[in-house]
Amino acid sequence: MSMSIEDCQVARDGFPRPFPDTPANVLDQFRLTGRVAAVTGAAEGIGGAVADAYAEAGADVALLYNTNPAAIERAEALTKQHGIRAAAYKVDVSDAEAVRETIAKVAKDFGKIDIFVANAGMAISKPILDTSLDEYRKQLSVNVDGVVFCAKYVGEIFKAQGSGNLIITSSISAHIVNVPVDQPVYNGTKAFVTHFGKSLAREWREFARVNVVSPGFFDTKMGAGPDVLSEAYRLSVLGRQGHVKEIKGLFLYLASDASTYTTGSDMLVDGGYVLT
Ligand SMILES: NC(=O)c1ccc[n+]([C@@H]2O[C@H](COP(=O)([O-])OP(=O)(O)OC[C@H]3O[C@@H](n4cnc5c(N)ncnc54)[C@H](OP(=O)(O)O)[C@@H]3O)[C@@H](O)[C@H]2O)c1
Repeated sequence: MSMSIEDCQVARDGFPRPFPDTPANVLDQFRLTGRVAAVTGAAEGIGGAVADAYAEAGADVALLYNTNPAAIERAEALTKQHGIRAAAYKVDVSDAEAVRETIAKVAKDFGKIDIFVANAGMAISKPILDTSLDEYRKQLSVNVDGVVFCAKYVGEIFKAQGSGNLIITSSISAHIVNVPVDQPVYNGTKAFVTHFGKSLAREWREFARVNVVSPGFFDTKMGAGPDVLSEAYRLSVLGRQGHVKEIKGLFLYLASDASTYTTGSDMLVDGGYVLT
């Protein structure tokens, strides 16, 4: 039964909470100096651009990768270019114990983790009737288990620190059913992580913010393949895929003090794709 108007007027101890002690100058709000960020899938693509963005804004960055050693060179380049600390860590996000160990090592090496971007993902784009159970389980193990494992173990660190910021890379595929190739399992995994992220925003309200980014087609290895490229151009209002430099600002906003009143949000960056 919902509360009466009279019941709702009873003041609760501790409310309203104080405004955060953050800079008023908007460019200062975007600075990440002194912060530690960890990004999965950081060797290239969207995660690589996000790691660059955080280093450019002054953060120390842990670049987590699975098979692509370009993360090691990227960490070295970021250290040299920006005078920050960066290091690469090899981890398969579908391995819970490896995720727990890697996150603990990052926190030990850097002293803390302020920002964690659960970005790693993969797709086997097929109709369910053509998808083997192994292919189904593989997508769940990376896109769902991987995000859950990262959130669970970094969440423990955020809770112990009393602060933290989790950003999950979901997809427009959590909003729309992709055409022309049916890919219900991938779409379902992204719908899971979007609602999972929103749910964590409430669960972690005392110590961390959690937000979701839903990209449209971006020109990466996971961007539009040959079968869907023309349709991706047609359905995007802007008539093209995104360049990864065009998603850096959103991830920086969500990681920074510019977004201290933003939690539980799911932000589309899709060239207007879902409008059509
Ligand atoms: N590009 C798009 O059009 C688009 C659209 C919507 C959403 N997204 C999402 O954006 C995220 C990044 O994708 P991207 O476009 O940047 O493509 P990408 O360059 O292929 O990035 C995918 C990343 O996921 C990592 N990964 C895959 N399996 C992993 C595992 N088992 N353990 C750890 N890392 C693993 C890969 O690491 P290694 O290379 O080191 O193995 C790779 O860096 C994904 O979650 C994807 O679903 C992309």
